[in-house]
Amino acid sequence: LSHGPLKGRRSPPVISVAPVWGGMVAFLAGPMRLMREAMPKYGEVFTVPVFHKRITFLIGPKVSEHFFKAKDTEMSQKEVYEFNVPTFGKGVVFDVDHTTRAEQFRFFADSLKSNRLRMYVGMMVKEAEDFFAKWGDEGEVNLLDELSELIVLTASRCLLGREIRETLYSEVTELVHDLDKGMVPLSVFFPYAPIEAHRKRDKARKKLAQIFDKVIQARRESGASEPDVLQTFIDARYKNGSKLSNDQVLGMLIAVLFAGQHTSSITSTWTGLLSIANKERVFPALEEEQRKIIKAHGNELDFDILAKMDELHFAVKEALRMHPPLIMLLRYAQSAFEVETTEGKKYTVPKGHIVATSPAFAHRLDSVYSEPDTYKPGRFREPNAEDKAAFASFIGFGGGRHGCMGETFAYMQIKTIWSILIRNFEFDMVGDLPEPDYEGMVVGPKHAGCRIKYKRRAKPLGK
Ligand code: HEM
Repeated sequence: LSHGPLKGRRSPPVISVAPVWGGMVAFLAGPMRLMREAMPKYGEVFTVPVFHKRITFLIGPKVSEHFFKAKDTEMSQKEVYEFNVPTFGKGVVFDVDHTTRAEQFRFFADSLKSNRLRMYVGMMVKEAEDFFAKWGDEGEVNLLDELSELIVLTASRCLLGREIRETLYSEVTELVHDLDKGMVPLSVFFPYAPIEAHRKRDKARKKLAQIFDKVIQARRESGASEPDVLQTFIDARYKNGSKLSNDQVLGMLIAVLFAGQHTSSITSTWTGLLSIANKERVFPALEEEQRKIIKAHGNELDFDILAKMDELHFAVKEALRMHPPLIMLLRYAQSAFEVETTEGKKYTVPKGHIVATSPAFAHRLDSVYSEPDTYKPGRFREPNAEDKAAFASFIGFGGGRHGCMGETFAYMQIKTIWSILIRNFEFDMVGDLPEPDYEGMVVGPKHAGCRIKYKRRAKPLGK
């Protein structure tokens, strides 16, 4: 018997940081830096110790396949995303057993399928038109602030529903803000640590429960049916016929809200910044596409019309490639599994490791993308789309078993915003493109660098 490591059955290399605190500090200081330093030294697979846990990184399409294809019983989400429980609430998503969660994910999928999306798009268009009608003839704005505000407004209408959007908007928005601020990097490891941010989070969650209890109860009693996500959760039935409680309906809503809010604000901001910063090279194609669409459909915007805008679609997708807001995705290894690197090295990732893969890192590999640091929306045009070369090469929306369920919703919303903006305004950058702000839980552009100048077109495009 050999006591040495078996050939081809080695554990991944463990990066050398001071035990216990080192990994934690390196991790919180920014996983991007950690990956950038570790990858050249250790390769596509390496392990970082954080407290008593081991996080194994799988970088790039070759080694991350198992991450996306494995069953939940092999690679699970609950253990790594459980820190969301105090925010979402009890009895939903990461606070329920595997079978219940699978049913609840079916409820998410039902709430976001295309017959529902067709209804939501009308509301997105209305919110965006009203919002930009309030801009002046010319001015300077912080794009991230503006688009975040618009996306909160749209989310309250499409997700939280008419009652909240029309009468309880300010109160609910403030409470959601407290919930949001209650999720700091420390919360990932210690979701119940007695800090002020967590106390405010818990208070806000309780107050939201009271507000929504009334709204949901009123809908249940009147039998009213509204075209929003809230309604789909009220109507949802488990296979055994039972339904979600009012508090669980709210929990599901918070989960969808959190999945879509910052991710969409950030991606719509980067789409604008990158297109404007590359005004000569990229913007004319976007304007030309709008002219053509207006010629065919007038000023109308709906699901099918937005779906025809390929140039704008590529511009959004390319912004997401360069700057995916979720820079790291996590799972928990329920069983050991083997990976083989592009160089042919084989490792066994032990059971019990946290496994991480990184869209931000994978999207900049020059083995997958030509000139990965250049904004080139055309790289996604068929038949030579660069992301088709390997499974999991474009993972801005995740992929495989747990790919984003809000992908079409997000594209519809971002394309609505930019269609309206391009049709009505011309833009200039105020400064240089901002750097990503790695301090956030969801990574966006540094706030100060998001200022742009706008000027209302004397004649809207196509007129
Ligand atoms: C999952 C990204 C917008 C709902 C995911 C995942 C990513 C992602 C990377 C996979 C997480 C993982 O594997 O651990 C994004 C980005 C968005 C966006 C970049 C905007 C540009 C939305 C919107 C909604 C939404 C607007 C809902 C309205 C969901 C849901 C899941 C998910 C329900 C869970 C899927 C599952 O675990 O099976 N998203 N998302 N997302 N997203 Fe999105």
